[in-house]
Amino acid sequence: MKLLLGVLVVCALAGSGHCASDSVAWCYHDASCGPAAWPTVVSPEFCNGSRQSPVNIDTRSATEDSSLKNFIFNNYDNTSGLTTITNTGRTVKVALQDLTVSGGGLSTKYQSLQFHLHWGNGDAVPGSEHTVNGMRYPMEMHIVNMKESYNGNVTLALADSEGLAALGFFIEVMDGNATASPASWNTLASYLANITNSGDSASITSKISMDDLLVGVDRARYYRYLGSLTTPTCNEVVVWTVFKDPIKVSKDVINRFNSTVHIGNDTSILMINTYRNLQPDQEVKTTVDNSGSSITLASAQMAIAAIWAFTGF
Ligand SMILES: *[C@@H]1O[C@H](CO)[C@@H](O)[C@H](O)[C@H]1NC(C)=O
Ligand SMILES: *[C@@H]1O[C@H](CO)[C@@H](O)[C@H](O)[C@H]1NC(C)=O
Ligand SMILES: *[C@@H]1O[C@H](CO)[C@@H](O)[C@H](O)[C@H]1NC(C)=O
Ligand SMILES: *[C@@H]1O[C@H](CO)[C@@H](O)[C@H](O)[C@H]1NC(C)=O
Ligand SMILES: *[C@@H]1O[C@H](CO)[C@@H](O)[C@H](O)[C@H]1NC(C)=O
Ligand SMILES: *[C@@H]1O[C@H](CO)[C@@H](O)[C@H](O)[C@H]1NC(C)=O
Ligand SMILES: *[C@@H]1O[C@H](CO)[C@@H](O)[C@H](O)[C@H]1NC(C)=O
Repeated sequence: MKLLLGVLVVCALAGSGHCASDSVAWCYHDASCGPAAWPTVVSPEFCNGSRQSPVNIDTRSATEDSSLKNFIFNNYDNTSGLTTITNTGRTVKVALQDLTVSGGGLSTKYQSLQFHLHWGNGDAVPGSEHTVNGMRYPMEMHIVNMKESYNGNVTLALADSEGLAALGFFIEVMDGNATASPASWNTLASYLANITNSGDSASITSKISMDDLLVGVDRARYYRYLGSLTTPTCNEVVVWTVFKDPIKVSKDVINRFNSTVHIGNDTSILMINTYRNLQPDQEVKTTVDNSGSSITLASAQMAIAAIWAFTGF
């Protein structure tokens, strides 16, 4: 049973449509296998649970937690960290090597296994999984991490309610008329033409690091809640981190995702709207942000004004 579950979730983690023992046939595009059917016919064991992801984050209800400190991203500056990019038939996934993450209020060190993306239908039709105060972003990146002590053993990770740590980054359209930007995302998207069919993969030979991809994000500012995998089998074993700042990517790069990769071979439909519907709210914690908040800024300015008034400067 445990082994079977392990196999199923290896498939779920990988989002693979080519998994030999993938008895959970799930999809995004068809009512019979899509998100609405996951909790009933497709994968009821966990998908109908009570701490399911993704969720809407209501920023006013999020409570500040001073234990949510900075993360330590180890080797995220290494340009050999991204190894292979794969079209799984449900997402585009990039395998990672020798990267870890700790701190950030996590109980232990986690190994970064892969990242994958969720999107809608180009910049005009948003497809992030999480939403913030009801706002959905064009795309969302998920970095999937497993407790390092489990050494990649999925069975062990699935038996632990915090066995996995997912890092979610929103992707927003870059301001102005820039194209092919940032260079890191343009390079990443250039590989899509090599993996147009499900099961295709390509080696990443370009020198791009995770830090290059996470450009412009203040990684000290994030939300935290306990949730699940957002794909079957929806196991409730994920510590979620959703970063507040989006990564800004030019429109043309965003629009390559909805127009290049297919869910099967070249005659199948394009991969679009690859996100799960929102699940019931969870209790969300937030970092204590000392900068970037207009209230803090305003009170700081008032304090300075008061000092000026007092000292007569
Ligand atoms: C979840 O699925 C199980 C098994 O199919 C079922 O027994 C249970 O009633 C479902 N729970 C909810 C909340 O739908
Ligand atoms: C970068 O990662 C590669 C592959 O894991 C490793 O061989 C190399 O030593 C790392 N480079 C640095 C500067 O840490
Ligand atoms: C991709 O999305 C863009 C913007 O939403 C849209 O204009 C374009 O037609 C889409 N591409 C395809 C092939 O549907
Ligand atoms: C994972 O760990 C379990 C429990 O210790 C063990 O039975 C199993 O053989 C391990 N699986 C792999 C692939 O190492
Ligand atoms: C973007 O391009 C349009 C049309 O060429 C131009 O009117 C506008 O000023 C440009 N905006 C920026 C921010 O460069
Ligand atoms: C991607 O495809 C292009 C054009 O077909 C080819 O030149 C290039 O070698 C391929 N790259 C990889 C990494 O497979
Ligand atoms: C593409 O996939 C369809 C459906 O699976 C199949 O019928 C067709 O033969 C495939 N075409 C090619 C060129 O492989």
